Amino acid sequence: MRALLLDFDERRPRLGDIAEPAAGEVRLRILECGTCGTDRDLAAFAFGAPPPGESQLILGHEALAEVAASENPGLPPGTLVVPAVRRACPGPCASCAAGRRDLCLTGAYRERGIFGLHGYCAEWAVDSAEDLFPIPPALAGVAVLVEPMSVVEKACDTAVRLHPGHPAHLLVLGAGAVGILAAWAGLRRGWHVTVVSREPADGPRARLLGAAGVTYRTTLPAAGTADLILEACGSASLAAAALACLRPLGVLVVLGARNTTVELPFLDLIVGNQTIAGTVNAGPEHFRQAIATLTALEPSWLRPMIERRPLHRAPASLAAPAAVPGGAIIKVVHTFH
Ligand code: BGC
Repeated sequence: MRALLLDFDERRPRLGDIAEPAAGEVRLRILECGTCGTDRDLAAFAFGAPPPGESQLILGHEALAEVAASENPGLPPGTLVVPAVRRACPGPCASCAAGRRDLCLTGAYRERGIFGLHGYCAEWAVDSAEDLFPIPPALAGVAVLVEPMSVVEKACDTAVRLHPGHPAHLLVLGAGAVGILAAWAGLRRGWHVTVVSREPADGPRARLLGAAGVTYRTTLPAAGTADLILEACGSASLAAAALACLRPLGVLVVLGARNTTVELPFLDLIVGNQTIAGTVNAGPEHFRQAIATLTALEPSWLRPMIERRPLHRAPASLAAPAAVPGGAIIKVVHTFH
């Protein structure tokens, strides 16, 4: 079958023809697979690992698939599904055993298409029914956004859980796919949403956000104007600078900042009862929330986010820069069949 492979010997992503996966509980026909910053980092060998004993990793963790064959009556052939990314650590730890692998305590979890397990950018895949979330057919056109939206839903839940008051203003840092999905999730929760990014204020992303009622800025807003901040820009220094925007009780959730160290204003955090939290991946409830949120959102907000390309363009897509200021393309999706 055709697959997008990360070749750890040749140190490059490439398309390959490889054996189909062995039988499993549910056989999936992959329909399409999104790419994100993680895939570009993988293609640059910043992190990631092939399955033990192998030198190639099938990439892809944002998938939409159709059940081709199934041993589970709850998932009959023809059902559309989105798979979860993370699988339990050996052991497993208490979190993984409780179905919250996103909260793994050992760090020995595996992630499909990222750490130690093949991903979904291939014609076929197999999975366990418990790792698959059924998608209403009406959502098919944008369901490839369910996985990144699940990460956003977890980040929003984390922020709300940690805020001891009634948050009303969300500041999002970054206008990539995660940043824009965070803006949509914030609007759905009834918050006022501001997005800060480098893209010009008259660019396509800013126009998309503005048309939905989101305030778009290229600089941070005034001090003390945000209850929640969601960092989705990859910049720890911008996240640290944005702390000045937090109101008392405010919460900053970091999602994408790279492994850099910054100085933190501890005294302000203390006297303001403020919180900084990190979050990664998503639990089953967040996938269900993501499906509900995407179902409730205006299709005209979601459809312009996606550019579909044939699979043969995938290696070139991965080589493109993660963020092109002013660039209109938000989520590149590769299609099969
Ligand atoms: C994925 C997450 C994953 C994280 C770290 C993100 O791109 O959406 O599911 O846990 O990368 O590997």
